[in-house]
Amino acid sequence: MQKIRLLLVDDETNFLNILAKRLKKRGITPELAANAEQCLSIIDNQPIDVVVTDVKMPDMDGLQLVKTIKSKYPDIEVILLTGHASTRDGIEGIKAGAFDYLTKPVEIEQLLEKIHQAFEKVFQKQEKRRLAEFQAKIEQQMIVTERLASLGTLATGVAHEINNPLAIIKEAAGYLGQLLKKKDMEDFTYKEQFEKGISKIETGIERARLITHKLLGFVKKSETSSLSKVDLKELVTEVFELLQREASFKNIQMILDTNESPFIIHSDPYQLRQVLLNLLTNAIHASGIDGKITITVKYEEENTVVIAIEDTGEGIPKENLKKIFDPFFSTKCPGQGTGLGLFVSNNIIRKLGGMIEVESRLGQGTCFYVKLPQKVINDSELAKQAVHPD
Ligand SMILES: Nc1ncnc2c1ncn2[C@@H]1O[C@H](COP(=O)(O)OP(=O)(O)OP(=O)(O)O)[C@@H](O)[C@H]1O
Ligand SMILES: [Mg+2]
Repeated sequence: MQKIRLLLVDDETNFLNILAKRLKKRGITPELAANAEQCLSIIDNQPIDVVVTDVKMPDMDGLQLVKTIKSKYPDIEVILLTGHASTRDGIEGIKAGAFDYLTKPVEIEQLLEKIHQAFEKVFQKQEKRRLAEFQAKIEQQMIVTERLASLGTLATGVAHEINNPLAIIKEAAGYLGQLLKKKDMEDFTYKEQFEKGISKIETGIERARLITHKLLGFVKKSETSSLSKVDLKELVTEVFELLQREASFKNIQMILDTNESPFIIHSDPYQLRQVLLNLLTNAIHASGIDGKITITVKYEEENTVVIAIEDTGEGIPKENLKKIFDPFFSTKCPGQGTGLGLFVSNNIIRKLGGMIEVESRLGQGTCFYVKLPQKVINDSELAKQAVHPD
């Protein structure tokens, strides 16, 4: 359980100091206030769980203080210390919202027990709130996941449909291009304009093809047959080689950092290659001249593998961090990014039982963490495990 953040309030300095000393010996170091005003100022400036306050104080008395604290900070519990034989004050205090009261002179053990009880109440409330927040977050996440899933289904359906007319346009543009090359077209007045037009059509087709290709890659199911042993070290090296040329244009250094060799996991090599290509391409795009990209592959906890792709590039502004996994979110110039790389990668890793996390500092760089189970378990294996759990 967390430490109790306690505040003692009393205008008798001696009493306050002795009480503080005794509590300190028993593991609680309280904040001290000599009157209600000081007490309220401390509460305004730092988190407090329990207040123990005297009732009789010159400025605002303890009862008024309970009311003020409870109206502003209902989660704080207040224990009142009343004068000898003034039970009425105590009862009034409880009516005003105090947790309980003790009569002076106080037994330190009794006070300690009361403080623990009050704190238990505070703790339970905090736990309840944390749970409610967690549930709200999960619900929110589920809404987003469902939204993305339906968007994914729709988008991939559209991608399939678009592929057919795209093929026809490509065919027709090619045919027109061939016609323009014929001898009897040599003197055609608008030949150059037609050629330019056809070239534009072809560029457009290529871009549309790239989008449909990425969307369809996203829908590819991680079938049982595609799960196999993967040497992550070999896979990263292969992706490095594929991107070497692009990185060399900016003199970017690419480093693979791992202690294991080989680094074997059980996953989908095809899909992982696609994710690494997407993340590394992004890192290269974000890097300036002489940048550095480091891929670290290591084990985290039991059965979890982390692939960290760290760059020294431009970083991601805070307001964009929430959007980068959304489909079609891109800060790249039109024609240079479809905004599908991270959306697709995130969905692939989720299907493989993992997650992608990101940390970024504007102007300093970004690190994407791909966390994967060491072994992706497919449905039939899950069923087997349910029958024969080890
Ligand atoms: N390593 C990185 N450093 C800085 N910004 C990044 C990085 N990776 C991604 N981003 C930001 O996230 C956006 C979305 O990335 P994503 O890969 O999804 O799409 P894209 O790279 O723009 O296009 P493409 O679909 O061609 O990959 C990028 O446009 C960029 O703004
Ligand atoms: Mg990208």
